[in-house]
Amino acid sequence: NEGSLWGGRFADGPAAAMAALSKSTQFDWVLAPYDIRASKAHAVVLNRAGLLTDDDLVAMHTGLDRLAADVASGEFAPAPTDEDVHGALERGLIERVGPQVGGRLRAGRSRNDQVATLFRMWLRDAMKRVGSGVLDVVESLAGQARTNIDVVMPGKTHLQAAQPILLSHHLLAHAQPLLRDVTRIFDLDARTAVSPYGSGALAGSSLGLDPEAIAADLGFDAAAANSIDATASRDFAAEAAFVLAMIAVDLSRLAEDVILWTTSEFGYATLADAWSTGSSIMPQKKNPDVAELTRGKSGRLIGNLAGLLATLKAQPLAYNRDLQEDKEPVFDSVAQLELLLPAVAGMVATLTFHPERMEELAPAGFTLATDIAEWLVRQGVPFRVAHEVAGASVRAAEERGVGLADLDDDTLAAIDEHLTPEVREVLTVRGSIGSRDAHGGTAPARVTEQLDEVVATVRGF
Ligand code: ARG
Repeated sequence: NEGSLWGGRFADGPAAAMAALSKSTQFDWVLAPYDIRASKAHAVVLNRAGLLTDDDLVAMHTGLDRLAADVASGEFAPAPTDEDVHGALERGLIERVGPQVGGRLRAGRSRNDQVATLFRMWLRDAMKRVGSGVLDVVESLAGQARTNIDVVMPGKTHLQAAQPILLSHHLLAHAQPLLRDVTRIFDLDARTAVSPYGSGALAGSSLGLDPEAIAADLGFDAAAANSIDATASRDFAAEAAFVLAMIAVDLSRLAEDVILWTTSEFGYATLADAWSTGSSIMPQKKNPDVAELTRGKSGRLIGNLAGLLATLKAQPLAYNRDLQEDKEPVFDSVAQLELLLPAVAGMVATLTFHPERMEELAPAGFTLATDIAEWLVRQGVPFRVAHEVAGASVRAAEERGVGLADLDDDTLAAIDEHLTPEVREVLTVRGSIGSRDAHGGTAPARVTEQLDEVVATVRGF
């Protein structure tokens, strides 16, 4: 069998069910361009080590270039008999340059060091694409924050009315974790940029090859320090699965807010037609499917991470075939985010907010009670007492069915002698928001600073 890389000691070929189980071309074919690039680099070190003549090197490179073009055009594809991307490409090379030259390429390398290297190369590119998609979502959030910079909204904890905030502050609160995710991608890349090439099956290469030269040629920062670790470890893949899942979870929390905000009960925002769907039975419906699919797919990405960790957990060193299960979860997490990120960016950028509705609800639920307590503290009252007095004010307002600002002077004085009419100065939504002006707070000046910083950070990446 021409697609096989290991027939020598076997009298019989694999059983059909064995071959079907073993086969990975249906998913590892995306590694083909990386495999060919790495093969070209490998041919160079073979030549330098005196294992490939100058003429053979030229023939090999010409053949690999033709193969790359045929892979890109779809002219060359894996055959049913090819076990994996590596076997298929060796077959393709030999078809193009003959066995005399093509049969020399595999010296000094194993699929174990190859696949670990190619996966790292693929992942480094894929994570860059994901990172740029994440930044597009951050830009959408920053754009909406800029448009709605002074819009007030009810702030909640436990989903209960808490304190008034600026909508822009809340939108940027979703941008911050996404920016941290982008820094996670950079951190991860530093650990992914280490080349296993030259580790062979597990023990290293004996043919005088140069792992460091190959590593540099393929854009890695370094060659692996330990050939056993290089072929056996997949913590880079697990870390990627975590970063991808974290991005999905961060998007999911944003999605959940959008789902709530666009209900008729909240009424904070309306989805654009292009980023929502209708119902087949209820004509009035406008459903937040982008947000719901985001929430749903985050579960899938968490599953990919958990599954990969479980695959790794009990494997002895070095390579085991279990490791072939490393790629699909990571490929899938990347593919799902490549679908989600542009959709989330589009949904966020086209949301229409309803400032009057949010402003009306901002003081509801006595959200200025903390402002009474803090005003009393500024008058010299201990916070323990101030908290009690503000609480009594809430009770009084609730009994009378009015807002805190509507309590009359006598009622205030009856609650506590310190509650003079001046307290009403802080009993406005804007006053409350403006007073939270320490670094990181919701006061307009602070949020504008934060927005500028977010935009500068995005540009700096
Ligand atoms: N297809 C395998 C993988 O994805 C690489 C081949 C290693 N196979 C082997 N028998 N050593 O991990």
